[in-house]
Amino acid sequence: MKNIILTGDRPTGKLHLGHLVGSLMNRVKLQNEANYDEMYLMIADAQALTDNFENPEKVRDNVMEVAMFYLACGIDPSKVTIFIQSEVPALTELTFYYMNLVTVARLMRNPTVKSEIKLRGFDESIPSGFLNYPVSQTADITAFKANIVPVGDDQLPMIEQAREIVHSFNRIYGETLVEPNPVLPDSAYAKRLPGLDGKSKMSKSLGNCIYLDDSDEEIKRKVMSMYTDPNHLRVEDPGQVEDNAVFIYLDVFCRDEHFKKYLPDYENLDDLKSHYQKGGVGDVTIKKFLTNILIELITPIREKKQELMQNISYVYDVLKKGTAKAKEKANDTLSEVRKHMGINYLEDPNFLKEMQDKFRK
Ligand code: TRP
Repeated sequence: MKNIILTGDRPTGKLHLGHLVGSLMNRVKLQNEANYDEMYLMIADAQALTDNFENPEKVRDNVMEVAMFYLACGIDPSKVTIFIQSEVPALTELTFYYMNLVTVARLMRNPTVKSEIKLRGFDESIPSGFLNYPVSQTADITAFKANIVPVGDDQLPMIEQAREIVHSFNRIYGETLVEPNPVLPDSAYAKRLPGLDGKSKMSKSLGNCIYLDDSDEEIKRKVMSMYTDPNHLRVEDPGQVEDNAVFIYLDVFCRDEHFKKYLPDYENLDDLKSHYQKGGVGDVTIKKFLTNILIELITPIREKKQELMQNISYVYDVLKKGTAKAKEKANDTLSEVRKHMGINYLEDPNFLKEMQDKFRK
């Protein structure tokens, strides 16, 4: 079997550190390991419209923004097909057929959908397009026959739902679609990076993000505002490293060589943690250390993005070529789907004869 990778993001804003550790790093790693046959990266503008239908301009601006972040983070368009979801109409058509294979009750039980309904205050007036976005996501994945889907853990219910739809389709219409498997980041925190406020998730709507093009000053200001241990008031007080957002970030981002460079009094993170726990390390020390690490991480991304901002026609070209390629592949799958469903009437050379035999008296 071929290894085909597909992932995507909704273009509703700038990408942040949560995206970087939750999925972007994994994608670049997969791209460079070259252990795959095809790799697709989708800008999910149609999905973004399911809860931004009144703000199409927001989605429009962010399509280019997200594409620039992909390239700035090291996605190589000669290896990865980057495309725009709504420009591939086969995805919409597949969604319509798959909608028959899932009940409203099942969609309402999807934990991610459930919490998003709450967050957006849809209550009883849930737009049906929104409720169906997991079905559309199944179309995204299956149209490319993707078996590998690198995502953060909030997307697991989507993959689960996709697998169910694949099973139903194959059972009713015959073996056609490929079952997808999620690939999560290795570290627990990378699966879901908390926000600057220590809340469960870094998210634009919660306003607790460090963006991948923040300036050094912004990074510094944001890290200084981070949540630590509320009982660690004086330097000499013992501090907690659990539930301490600064240490959670250090767990994700810091490597031993950062100590030599920025905090040579300590060997490694365990060393720093045990001193902090005993008392004697100030929050400013750990925050300065984290600031340096994040500046080192983000500066090359920001600079690459600034270059791309001066060369939008290049990014446009990447999207245009990628989308053309994606269209072809998705159309092939759609033809197969229609054939297995027996609704490919006018492409099926047997249809005319079959109907003549049946109806001619
Ligand atoms: N739901 C994903 C998100 O919010 C975006 C997405 C759309 C996606 N289609 C996908 C992710 C297919 C993986 C595979 O980030």
